[in-house]
Amino acid sequence: MSQSIDHLLTENRRFAPSPEFAAKAVAGSDLYDAARADRLAFWGDQSRELLHWHTPFTEVLDWSTPPFAKWFPDGELNVAYNCLDRHVEEGNGDRVAIHFEGEPGDSRSVTYAELTDEVKRLANVLTDLGVGQGDRVAIYLPMIPEAIASLLAVARLGAIHSVVFGGFSADSLRSRIDDAGAKVVITADGGYRKGRASALKPAVDQALSDRGEGVQATVESVLVVRRTGQDVEWQDGRDVWYHDVVPQAAAEHEAQPFPAENPLFILYTSGTTGKPKGILHTSGGYLTQAAFTHRNVFDLHPETDVYWCTADIGWITGHSYVTYGPLANGATQVLYEGTPEFPEPGRWWDVAEKYGVTILYTAPTAVRSFMKQGREIVQKRDLSKIRLLGSVGEPINPEAWMWFREVVGGDVAPIVDTWWQTETGAIMISALPGVTETKPGSAQVPLPGVAIDVVDEKGESVGNDAGGLLVVTEPWPSMLRGIWGDPERFVDTYWKMFADKGYYFAGDGARRDEDGDIWLLGRVDDVMNVSGHRLSTAEIESSLVAHAATAEAAVVGASDETTGQAVVAFVILKESFLKSNTADGLATELRQWVGQQIGPIARPRDVYIVGELPKTRSGKIMRRLLRDVAEGREVGDTQTLADTAVMSVITAQVR
Ligand code: WT7
Repeated sequence: MSQSIDHLLTENRRFAPSPEFAAKAVAGSDLYDAARADRLAFWGDQSRELLHWHTPFTEVLDWSTPPFAKWFPDGELNVAYNCLDRHVEEGNGDRVAIHFEGEPGDSRSVTYAELTDEVKRLANVLTDLGVGQGDRVAIYLPMIPEAIASLLAVARLGAIHSVVFGGFSADSLRSRIDDAGAKVVITADGGYRKGRASALKPAVDQALSDRGEGVQATVESVLVVRRTGQDVEWQDGRDVWYHDVVPQAAAEHEAQPFPAENPLFILYTSGTTGKPKGILHTSGGYLTQAAFTHRNVFDLHPETDVYWCTADIGWITGHSYVTYGPLANGATQVLYEGTPEFPEPGRWWDVAEKYGVTILYTAPTAVRSFMKQGREIVQKRDLSKIRLLGSVGEPINPEAWMWFREVVGGDVAPIVDTWWQTETGAIMISALPGVTETKPGSAQVPLPGVAIDVVDEKGESVGNDAGGLLVVTEPWPSMLRGIWGDPERFVDTYWKMFADKGYYFAGDGARRDEDGDIWLLGRVDDVMNVSGHRLSTAEIESSLVAHAATAEAAVVGASDETTGQAVVAFVILKESFLKSNTADGLATELRQWVGQQIGPIARPRDVYIVGELPKTRSGKIMRRLLRDVAEGREVGDTQTLADTAVMSVITAQVR
């Protein structure tokens, strides 16, 4: 079967950077020239410029045993020193690193000097608990400054952190602790979410108590932050209060250098089998690309910008763009604990106004939920300081892109749509905001030093104006170094498909337009085949969201006797639309709308108007479950859904 994907939508809007923005922009087009002239020398230069190396490297890349890369192999550095001490030594200790805003309204600002002090003490505590180079520490915390301090303290010791998202259950926590063989867990009594204290410690207790047959318990200590003050059960000899030991610990801690390839963290991501898939990242290359992309893609001016990435620390975005990138660059950032809607739908915008946020990095799913609530909520706040917007996680459809720019960006802020993955570690495809003329909906161009192609099933480039499979054709500094404990699975999952070419296959479909710009089309597993045409979910969803009534849409292919597969759409309507209209006849109207916008081939066979869509905790739509509904099957495993009740509601609405 051909892997080419048909192209349906055309987008003609263009937004060039304003001359004022371009004049002050951190990144210029010279970066592309330098990377094109000598890719490895370019990364070497960037790394030396952005980081402090205790022992300078003499080699940039060792690619002698692909796909196992070694970047800057003979260099040594300390990741935490790069994120903390050096800013203090350079006289920036008084700069705020974190403006923390708790959901109940408590707030505190932590300077670089204060964060460095905290991390040094915490590193001493962890050393006392037996943590050393290569040991694994599981972190299960809410979005509080201690979470960032914990990652850095582990990194400072050359140990390996494994952050588990606070919304995951005891079962998920247990399988991740066991897979990594963690020695210490850092957690909290609880965190605040939707106005309530939500417990974390009981999940840790449970994860550590129900041991499976023959499973060796590796955890020796549990360090507990007091956040909510709720009651906790205590196991003497194992559990330690953070506030009992960290302030009392010695303030001095000298950061030791570690090899560039020393493992930095494991982050578990979903795989096709039930076994957790621990993506492994290492130190020097990862920090280089995290810092490079954070500085250049977000146009960071560390003296004046207030940066806010809304991702949770439990996802890769919270690692690269809340922790390592911003801190390596000496940025001032906002850290918000709670949900966007608490105590009311405008909370995020209150936070942005309060701290004078200048750079906002978030996910399309959040943008669409704000679109659903209406622009008045945003417009009531003063967001005039915002000068750059970023998007990540899914394709941002052009309507959401335009709304984001107009309503949040005051019609002037450039948008950078950043494509990357847990596995890539850092941004791979994005506009550079002072250089690129942006197009709503397109992630656009590979970053300088990153080699991307769109290919057919034989690995041949499809050229411009064609769709296919997205691949990375050359190793990159922040690439995953493996799957924890399973090198074979690493090779099979990412490198087998184009083994002869040595390409990394990302799992995504993409298209290059006539200018060569890249449009992400969704996971290839989700591509539909209608009467022999391969259609992407992303484009039909974009068309549905472009209708005045629609806030969100998910499209799947359901088996169909005549066309092989048929397009089935699930849509959520805007609140503003429902105030003055009914949904009668809308399904038919939306079918016709897609038919007119894209063409009859894309017209959905069925359109279901629903109240919710099934999403993972990181906000990705689980199309597999919608396919079950569309094909009238029993709905499959819903365990990874953020809200497991959603599927029964949708099934009832559809029937
Ligand atoms: C998958 C990776 C990268 C951090 C958050 C998600 C999709 C990501 C975009 C984008 C279109 C995107 C891809 C990718 N994705 N960014 N800008 N446009 N799709 O990390 O959970 O590892 O997911 O998210 O499908 O493969 P992740």
